[in-house]
Amino acid sequence: MLKPRSLVIVHANDVMPTNADGVMAFRQNADLYHLTGIQQEETILMIATGLNAEPDHAEILFTRETSERIAIWEGEKLTKEAATAASGIRRVEWTGAFESHFHRLAPQCDHIYLLTNEHLRATTVVETRNDRFIRRCRERYPLHRYERLAPLMHRLRMIKGDEEIAMLRKACEITGSGFRRALGFVKPGVGEWEVEAEFLHEFVRKGSRGFAYLPIIASGGNACALHYIDNNRRCADGAMLLLDVGAEYAGWNADMTRTIPVNGRFTPRQRDVYNAVLRVLRAANERLRPGNTPSAYHKEVVAIMEEELVKLGLIDAGEAASQGPDKPLVAKYFMHGVSHHLGLDVHDVAPSNEPFAPGMVLTIEPGIYIREEDLGVRLENDVLIGADTNTDLMDHIPIEADEIEDLMNRG
Ligand code: GLY
Ligand code: MN
Ligand code: MN
Repeated sequence: MLKPRSLVIVHANDVMPTNADGVMAFRQNADLYHLTGIQQEETILMIATGLNAEPDHAEILFTRETSERIAIWEGEKLTKEAATAASGIRRVEWTGAFESHFHRLAPQCDHIYLLTNEHLRATTVVETRNDRFIRRCRERYPLHRYERLAPLMHRLRMIKGDEEIAMLRKACEITGSGFRRALGFVKPGVGEWEVEAEFLHEFVRKGSRGFAYLPIIASGGNACALHYIDNNRRCADGAMLLLDVGAEYAGWNADMTRTIPVNGRFTPRQRDVYNAVLRVLRAANERLRPGNTPSAYHKEVVAIMEEELVKLGLIDAGEAASQGPDKPLVAKYFMHGVSHHLGLDVHDVAPSNEPFAPGMVLTIEPGIYIREEDLGVRLENDVLIGADTNTDLMDHIPIEADEIEDLMNRG
């Protein structure tokens, strides 16, 4: 994918500060992790193509130098041998040697590929190590041709390999264990935060480092606030409880939503809304198929949702028929996307409106939010697109209303 006589430089993320001498848990740059498998801070990857000399400079991995002092305070960092074993990159140098290697190779190449965050919804004001390097690099080498690595990474990351699928399956499996545990725990009066703790306990004991994203544990009307993460109310008898919770595993993420009756029994109305959402999820799965595009797919699913909303008496069939093509009536009850790519990022990267293709993993997450009834139902599964059929990576996680009731009412 690279032009001849190119140099690619990818930096790790920073260790992010909190206050005083505090830091957040380290989160590796997803592209660097995809390319190297290295989770350590201060790592740099350099790839050179088409340079005449120095064939052993085609790939160099730079990792943070270990020392006796670092070993005592922070534990072992990667040795060069361990970095090679993890990454498959034979040549490993300490990060301190990066500048001299870079300044030796840069004059031999024409193109320099650097990494920007080009996720469509990225809004961060924080400058990354890659951003800072872009500034320094352009100052020092103003006449090189600069290239965007991001579109190439989006293309590489949108199709999952067998190892990635195995990691995603594991994240889904752990998420399912958490959900089964929650089903045995939820009853009227428990705190949303207590349900969160049940998930976390199960995730961590199964080998996950924790939540893939801030969990949404939303009872009653809280479920209608799409990004509710306070998780600080008690679950009321008769309410539904929306659980949008996923485990991470080795950097890969699961993204699940289930909505369950707090007291273990759906009311007829809750069951009707629930089954409507479940039908939309299944119909969407039929359309999340190779060749369809995300924009056409979204329209198809919105049309199916509209039929369900009419059947539920939420929108009038006549008004629905006479509205514009954007179907604004549906948006009152279903106002978010149906699917997103899933991988090293929960909202994973992919080229804009790229047609679906085998090897992609996406969520399917329809929902119906009825504020006037304090009722929000969303269901979300993670699906691997195949050539002949899709594989539901969450088919082992209970989703039928009857099965949910059975599991909640066991001894
Ligand atoms: N949990 C985030 C999402 O469903 O997209
Ligand atoms: Mn999702
Ligand atoms: Mn979700």
